[in-house]
Amino acid sequence: MTTTRKIGLSLGADLCWPTFYEDIVEQLDPVATMGSETVRFVVDRVTIEPYALHQESSYDVVLDRLTHWYHTSREWIKKSIIMDGTYVLNNPFSIQSMEKHTSYAAMMRLGLPVPETWMIPPKHYEATSDLQITLESYAQMFDLKAIGDQIGYPQFLKPFDGGAWVGVSRIDTANDLERAYNESGVRLMHLQKAAEPFDLFVRALAVGPQVNVIRYDPGAALHDRYKVDFDFVDEDELQLLSDMVLTINTFFGWDFNSCESLRVDGTFHPIDFANPCPDSQVTSLHFHVPWLVKAKIRWSLFCAATDRPMRLNLDWDEFFEISDSDRPYREKLTEYGKIARRRLDSDRFDEFCATQLADLDTVTLEYFGSEKARETVHAKVGRMFPSHEVEQFTDHFWGLIQFWRKTEADRLAGA
Ligand SMILES: Nc1ncnc2c1ncn2[C@@H]1O[C@H](COP(=O)(O)OP(=O)(O)OP(=O)(O)O)[C@@H](O)[C@H]1O
Ligand SMILES: [Mg+2]
Repeated sequence: MTTTRKIGLSLGADLCWPTFYEDIVEQLDPVATMGSETVRFVVDRVTIEPYALHQESSYDVVLDRLTHWYHTSREWIKKSIIMDGTYVLNNPFSIQSMEKHTSYAAMMRLGLPVPETWMIPPKHYEATSDLQITLESYAQMFDLKAIGDQIGYPQFLKPFDGGAWVGVSRIDTANDLERAYNESGVRLMHLQKAAEPFDLFVRALAVGPQVNVIRYDPGAALHDRYKVDFDFVDEDELQLLSDMVLTINTFFGWDFNSCESLRVDGTFHPIDFANPCPDSQVTSLHFHVPWLVKAKIRWSLFCAATDRPMRLNLDWDEFFEISDSDRPYREKLTEYGKIARRRLDSDRFDEFCATQLADLDTVTLEYFGSEKARETVHAKVGRMFPSHEVEQFTDHFWGLIQFWRKTEADRLAGA
């Protein structure tokens, strides 16, 4: 029996990776043998239009990059999951409810070394009818400086649900704190102790059970923050960072996320890991983009081929049982990692990739040398950079992708 599974790309401004994804899947033309079933795949882009709630979704899997801010599509995706059994990367219900603050609380509950963090009521409010009486009745006066001193400097004042570095201030003194808080307006803010001095800053990017740990330089220009570097963590650290990001992702039901961690005195402190629509652009990820595109292709085809059900009830008890035991942190993390890999069906996934997607590496290697891939990089750079820099930066990112091809060819030759 032959079945066709449909994968939808739900997109906003994303320009480069969707084209890479579509071109590579087209060239690969994957056909999966799942028991007695032969599975083929079609990919298209989800459009925005009115829908009746009873109108069945035609998609088996949706790779979503839009619905964290675009509500028509968010509600369509939620109804498709509930009514039609569509599998969506990432779970829109948990994105909606689990912002940065909840993610800190949850991972502190599991014992992860999140730096000391306080929630501070906002400096100003939008006027609403019950505001005055509520604040007069219940809002306590507080001494911000005393909280800042207690946490210790340096620290960061940043939105409790933040993203894209908006409203993030580094605080070195009580005066800085007072000024930054006064400027924070109606935003609800966290005050968080800096994980400093750190000797390594990494982002662990994960898609399903696949993890790529990338060195990161927050002080560099935007196009140069993700580093091309090798062997900057040892095997144990790599395992720990993988366990950490997969624990976070399965705890929240996210398939695709990035976890920022800073190493201080040998301990990795996660500081920002509610990023369920992480940067996927060639203008930031350059060398690392082929890895990401392959990871998305593998995981979405696997989810489609196996008819993977969404886990709608996040089921935290299993994690809490481990966190409530008296095992040391590293052992707990290993156990969380086992739950994560089981929930992500990682053994079956590895076998699927080995048996059904054996050509993906070589197809991808060849594709990223093609004129079409270069044109796509050029188009993306054209959208992001001033016109006099477009050629220079196209060459820059293309050069880094060609360097990836060299390392990849060596890897495949050695494999
Ligand atoms: N506790 C901390 N210790 C050290 N550095 C921090 C800390 N919190 C924030 N920073 C610095 O500030 C940057 C922005 O903070 P954070 O990542 O929390 O905000 P964001 O708005 O979610 O950023 P994005 O989503 O773009 O990564 C971090 O990449 C890091 O360089
Ligand atoms: Mg961040």
